[in-house]
Formats: sequence, C-alpha cells, structure tokens
Amino acid sequence: MEKATRIAELFAQSEAYVGKTARVQGWVRTRRDSKAGISFIELNDGSCLKSVQIIADHNHPEYQEILADITTGCSLQVEGTVSPSPGKGQSIEIRANRIKLYGRSDPLTYPLQKKRHSLEFLRQIAHLRPRSNTIGAVTRIRNRLSYGVHQFFQDRGFYYIHTPIITSSDCEGAGEVFRVTTLGPESLLTGQSDNIFEGDFFNRPAFLTVSGQLQAEIYALALGKVYTFGPTFRSENSNTSRHLAEFWMIEPEAAFCDLQDNLELAVEFVKHLVGTILVDCSEDLEFFAHFVEPALLETLQKTVDTSFEIISYKEAVAFLKRSDEAFTFPVEWGNDLQAEHERYLTEKLFQKPVAIIDFPRALKPFYMRVNADEQTVAAMDILVPRIGEIIGGSQREDRRDVLIEQMQLKGISTEEYRWYVELREFGSVPHAGFGCGLERMVQFTTGLPNIREVIPFPRTPGHAEF
Ligand code: 4AD
Ligand code: MG
Repeated sequence: MEKATRIAELFAQSEAYVGKTARVQGWVRTRRDSKAGISFIELNDGSCLKSVQIIADHNHPEYQEILADITTGCSLQVEGTVSPSPGKGQSIEIRANRIKLYGRSDPLTYPLQKKRHSLEFLRQIAHLRPRSNTIGAVTRIRNRLSYGVHQFFQDRGFYYIHTPIITSSDCEGAGEVFRVTTLGPESLLTGQSDNIFEGDFFNRPAFLTVSGQLQAEIYALALGKVYTFGPTFRSENSNTSRHLAEFWMIEPEAAFCDLQDNLELAVEFVKHLVGTILVDCSEDLEFFAHFVEPALLETLQKTVDTSFEIISYKEAVAFLKRSDEAFTFPVEWGNDLQAEHERYLTEKLFQKPVAIIDFPRALKPFYMRVNADEQTVAAMDILVPRIGEIIGGSQREDRRDVLIEQMQLKGISTEEYRWYVELREFGSVPHAGFGCGLERMVQFTTGLPNIREVIPFPRTPGHAEF
C-alpha cells in the first residue's frame, strides 16, 4: 500500500507542507459542491479532531469518473498539493491531483450524518461510532492515559506484571464474580456428585478477576514495586453512570510502604495523568469543554495545581452532618458514603479532589490493615468532582494474627487463602497499593457524564453487544 501522511501531522507541520504534494487517507465526513464545478470534501482519518478539506475539480481527468460516488462515509486516498486555506479555522487544504476510492458508502443508509447524534444513538452503532468526533476524541484521550500510566510507573521503578484474568479468589469479598465454567446447564443442575465442579475445566470454582491486587501483593513482596493494568469484571447489578461489568483497572502495589506513602503516590499519579492530558490532548479537551462540560479545563487545571484535601472518614461524616444538604441516604458513622455525599464533598464543600482515609473496619475488605483504634482500617479513597471515587486503596494487613482474625470476622477461608497468610509468615513487610478505574479517569478528563461512552464496547447488566 502507498504510505500516507496522518492528518494531525499535516496540520501540525502545515508550514513545511505548503506547496508540496501530500497523500492522505481517511473517511469522508461531508461533501458539498459549488456551482463553479468544485467539490469540497471533508476527510477525517481519526488522528485528530479536524478534518482536512479536499478541493476536487469536476473536470479533472484523473478522478472525474468517480467523483459522483464520493459521499459521506466512503473511504478515500487523496494525493494533492497542500495550499493555504482561505476558509475559516483551517490553515491548509489539499487540491486533489489523484483520488482513489476504496469503499463506497450509501449516503441514504449510512447512519452517521453530519448532524449531532445523541450519545445513546451512537452506542447502538458501536461499530461506526469511533468515526464520530466525540468517540474519536475519547479514544485518543484513553490512549494517552494508558500510555501515561506506563510512563508514570516505569519512571518510578515499578515493574509491570500480568495478573490472571481467570482466578479462584474474590479479592473484594463482595461475591460479585462471574463464574468461568465449561459445564452446560444440565450438568450443573443434576447435582449427582457432591463436587458440582467435577468434570468442569478447572475442577474447582473459577471466576473472572475482580482485582489483580492479591496477586500483585505476591510480586510486590519479591520485586518491591509492581503494577498491574488490565481488565476486571464485576457482576454488581448497579446500572449507574459510573459502573461497568467489565472495566480496566490500574493497580500498583509497593513493599516497605505505608498508607501515607501510598496516598502520596496516588495523588502524584492523578496529577500526572491529568497534567499529561492538559498538555498533549488540548484540542480534544477544548472540544469537550465546548460541547460537554463547560468547567472541564478549570477543574482539570485545579486538580494539577492545588493540593488535595485529606480528611478522615470520621471528619467526612462530621462535614456531611453539618451541611444543610437534603441527602437521600442518611449520614451516620458506619454507613458507606454514597455518590451524593462524595459529590457534595468534592463539588460543593472543597471544590477539588478529596482523599478520605481510615474507614470503619466493617465497610472494607479483609485485607486492609487494622488501625490502632481497632475500629478503622488504613484505607483511602480519592474522590474527584463529577465522578466521586476514582481511586480506592489501602495499606495491607501485614500481621499474620490480625489478618487471620480479619478473615474469620469476614468469613474468608484461611485454607483457601493459605498462600496469602503465608506471605505474612515468610518475610512480611508493611505494604500498600491502590486501584484506579481507567474509565473513571477517562470520564473525569473528558467530562462525559456516562461511563458507557468512554470504553469502546461497554458491558452493563443486559448488554454485551458486539
Ligand atoms: O475500590 P475498589 O473496589 O478497589 C479494589 O478493587 C482494590 N483491590 C484496589 C487495590 O487496592 N489494588 O476499585 C478500585 C477502583 C475504584 O475506585 C473505581 O475507580 C474502579 O476501580 N471501579 C470501577 N470502575 C468501573 N466500573 C466498576 N464497576 C468499578 N468498580 C470499581
Ligand atoms: Mg472502592
């Protein structure tokens, strides 16, 4: 195939390209014709928000014959002279000398028209929606964030490890696992044997992972600093704008590290990612600020520039009680904080990211380190405006006996998790880590209200299309 220049590169280096011949490839956004026998074709290749304008002459012998077939949605390769453009908002355009039409597109049935489509409609055409401005911009930001995650941890000496997707542990202990089985429904129902997993592929219960943390701990207790970044699955039946059944999580884990160090790392991480997007995706951000969330740039800049508010759970409860908001969920020591509480703290009270530490023991999983008060654990949640919780983490229980007590309290089998207890018997050290939902980070940086827009193929209760 002939090599072509990406449209983003053409705009970025426009001065160098003017007067020269360039070749571009992409999909037609729109086409309009002038009375003077000229076609103006907007071509987009996904490398940036902007399309490049192609000027095609109806009498050009090279492409006269195919011009009528060039309609919205079709794919083209265009070679032509780059010229300064008189049109508003475009520095250059291409005067076509050659056009190759790859795939036609019926303008009457092509679902993506020039007009603005609703995000709900775009979700139904997930095979075409990456060609829209919104999903194109989301995809570039998601890509930059993912790369930024690796840069951040690699620069700080963390090793990237791959924790299993099929696992036998339910790290969060919430029972929100998807079972992995090769047994058909008949064999599960007959119940001939005591062991209903007999004849199943793993000969034991197996699930899709809800978190790579427990396995990351194993590696942190050997390599010091590690992170895992992969898909996680939760069957929680929460049909909300911030929950997915399949989402991507970034989970660092560090040995010789306490809650304070962990919190500092998490704050630096959020600032780093947001700062990177502000610099490297400014054009896409301006698009979202214009069409989706007017306060976007201000919120993101503030996240980078100001220190996060750090309060204990106890203080958070006190602040919430003192407020005159009419919350739907009651605020009491011992109750979980709900989205409405998180939003009040970040959007109204502090108007910036807030870290909450030291949650009641009963609210959190078995692995968190019990504090000296014995009532709370060394947990931390980081909340940001519009999203609420973006990070959840903790210092891990590194004392064998306390861990066993916690497991017994929460009904976790010390036999099943024998290996986890052994890590506290052979060279235990204080260690800590956190999990950040990539989609929540994409939501935060784009301002998009619904998490279904920020992952290519969202899985939610009742939905696993494509
Ligand atoms: O707070 P969570 O449940 O923490 C853990 O899973 C720990 N094992 C992490 C660790 O310490 N290594 O989840 C961590 C983050 C949340 O703060 C949220 O950003 C995201 O994962 N998350 C979800 N994102 C989308 N859809 C869901 N259903 C999510 N559940 C959690
Ligand atoms: Mg959490």
